[in-house]
Amino acid sequence: MPTLIWDLPTRLFHWLLAALVAFSWWSHEAHLDWHKLSGFAIAGLLVFRLWWGVAGSSTARFAGFLKGPAGVVAYLKGGAAGAPGHNPLGGWSVAAMLLVMVGQVALGLFAINDDFEGGPLTRYVDYDTGLAIGEWHGILFNVLLGLIVLHLLAVGFYAARRQNLIGPMITGRGTVGEGATPPVMAPLWRLLVGLTLGGATFGILYWLESRASAF
Ligand code: HEM
Ligand code: HEM
Repeated sequence: MPTLIWDLPTRLFHWLLAALVAFSWWSHEAHLDWHKLSGFAIAGLLVFRLWWGVAGSSTARFAGFLKGPAGVVAYLKGGAAGAPGHNPLGGWSVAAMLLVMVGQVALGLFAINDDFEGGPLTRYVDYDTGLAIGEWHGILFNVLLGLIVLHLLAVGFYAARRQNLIGPMITGRGTVGEGATPPVMAPLWRLLVGLTLGGATFGILYWLESRASAF
């Protein structure tokens, strides 16, 4: 029977993130102002997701989908995926993507390009360090691209085996295996805390940016 696997916040997080990452890529060269704004929004989304990973619905929680090596090996050997949500291998790819994106945003804040344009915290580094950070920002982006390609290949791989993962990420609903515990959704107040944290992150970065360009 179809059950709610992914709550609305997790789905919105996912599709907004995918859209903003694509937008950040497109805008980095000719539209740096938009690039930075999009990056601040990604930072807000990531802070929200980190909160949701400890306080959100059961399928969004890191403790629920990050399994030790034994769990991953058992899954690879054909064991059952266990609780509904990310499987043990997918769980680690999600963690890797989130981690790299946190790094991407952090480097972006200090990055400087050849035209002396930079993120809102560039005043705290000298020009050469900012340039080097900008280069690392570009290198890490390629790592992120690699992870995204793997992500899409994995989703395609499951689709080829007639396991539809995309549908549940859109509608939230999917089939839960027999005997598996149904997901538990988080209460509204936790969502409100997460939205406040994410919104505050965006607001603070935006404020730092407006302060940086006022000098
Ligand atoms: C707070 C967030 C961010 C800020 C402030 C920021 C800032 C910057 C700045 C100042 C540059 C120019 C430096 C350079 O070209 O070396 C840049 C380049 C770039 N950014 Fe960001 N960025 C942010 C987030 C992101 C995100 C989330 C992505 C992708 C997912 C991204 C992808 C890129 C790419 C691909 C470049 C070009 C790098 C290169 O030319 O080698 N940035 N960013
Ligand atoms: C820039 C592009 C993308 C990024 C950065 C990205 C990132 C992520 C992340 C972080 C998650 C974990 C969701 C969570 O627990 O919060 C996820 C899950 C998922 N993504 Fe993406 N995604 C991207 C594009 C796409 C696209 C284009 C599709 C569909 C064609 C897709 C399909 C899925 C599916 C089906 C899941 C759930 C996987 C599962 O059932 O375990 N993603 N993605």
